[in-house]
Amino acid sequence: MSEPVVVRVPGDKSISHRALIFAALADGPSSIRGILRSEDLHSTAGVLRALGVRIPELADEITIVGVGRRGLAQPARDLDCGNSGTTTRLISGVVAALPIAARFIGDASLSRRPMHRVAEPLTRMGARFEFEHDDGLPMTIRGGTLDGIAWQSATPSAQVKSAILLAGLVSGSPVSVSEPARSRDHTERLLHTLGAHVTVNGTEVRLGATERLAPLHLRVPADPSSAAYPVALGVLRRGGGGVLVDRVCLNDTRTGFLRALRAMGAAVSTEDVHDEGGERIGTVRAAPSSLAGIAVGGDAIPAMIDELPMLACVAARAEGETSIGGAAELRVKESDRIAVVVSNLRAIGADAEERADGMVVRGSRAPLRGTVRTHGDHRIAMAFGVLGAVDGNAITIDDPGCVAVSYPTFWDDLHRILRG
Ligand code: S3P
Repeated sequence: MSEPVVVRVPGDKSISHRALIFAALADGPSSIRGILRSEDLHSTAGVLRALGVRIPELADEITIVGVGRRGLAQPARDLDCGNSGTTTRLISGVVAALPIAARFIGDASLSRRPMHRVAEPLTRMGARFEFEHDDGLPMTIRGGTLDGIAWQSATPSAQVKSAILLAGLVSGSPVSVSEPARSRDHTERLLHTLGAHVTVNGTEVRLGATERLAPLHLRVPADPSSAAYPVALGVLRRGGGGVLVDRVCLNDTRTGFLRALRAMGAAVSTEDVHDEGGERIGTVRAAPSSLAGIAVGGDAIPAMIDELPMLACVAARAEGETSIGGAAELRVKESDRIAVVVSNLRAIGADAEERADGMVVRGSRAPLRGTVRTHGDHRIAMAFGVLGAVDGNAITIDDPGCVAVSYPTFWDDLHRILRG
């Protein structure tokens, strides 16, 4: 068998957003290496600039001089969040806690996504939200003095949890958030690293009043959600030497996809695992494997939520049935990922059915052929891009450029694996 192809996927998107925001709120100069340079991060950088922070052009190594916990200024223009839910919801928490007013806007996909999930707790704390239609963007937040809160989230959501933690941090009021299952915990980890009074007990996070945030010195690990695509291709591609992805964030709130692949019988392993900057990091190795269908659901879902389109596409090549349940959140992502994944699988000849909170996919070895409609959703383009690269399949993606939201070099990496 040939050698594995070594792939370096870009920096983690969730950690990159948080790194910019915390560097902006810190006292003094922060340095960040390996930040993700994608459309979503350009949105967060642009919004922070509009709020008066000098964010340099994103590069492999950047320095940001923080303005302090309460140093953001009244913006002179709308805050354009592009396609990014994380930008919108995290910055909502910051703006809510300051004596400023800001109008948030975004693209058509983001404007359809629900914002009541942050408006409700932040309004309860004392901020004012105004919507122009339903509970999507455009939305105006009038911030001010906030009270503390003990919030029980209805769904596991790191964006909601982070919005409340940021509101608590900036206002100086104690907050706590409980979730029905653990969502990604990068905000808590970074807050702890920067000296904030944060405690975690199971699915509850508490943040006490914190005077100042220390500057951040961080090397961003590779994004496990982006790594999912080369890893899946390494598993699905017959006869290849597999792939090796370096420096991947292996925080266990993010590694559900690797666990699911192993449960399907995939030869996926991790090496050189170590702790760095408050996160677990390591190399992921994936080799061609025969796969069997599995059932995933419940508390396992948040740790693979963004990888479920890829899992569904892998399932189309596994023996037997794969069911995904407890994943209704997929309906309010960049597209309705249950409807869009299932309709595209069917369009290329796979056997798939929608469920209210997930889907069922029955695998086969028959060639899959046709055109995939991404609805501008980067994760749909990449998941079906991988499936289309598997021997025998011929899949056209209607909007391959939408990968720029999170993984601009995706197609280059995919072609490198195919050549390797
Ligand atoms: C993210 C949280 C998740 C995830 C999104 C990034 C984050 O969303 O799907 O891609 O960085 O906090 P939810 O918080 O809505 O689950």
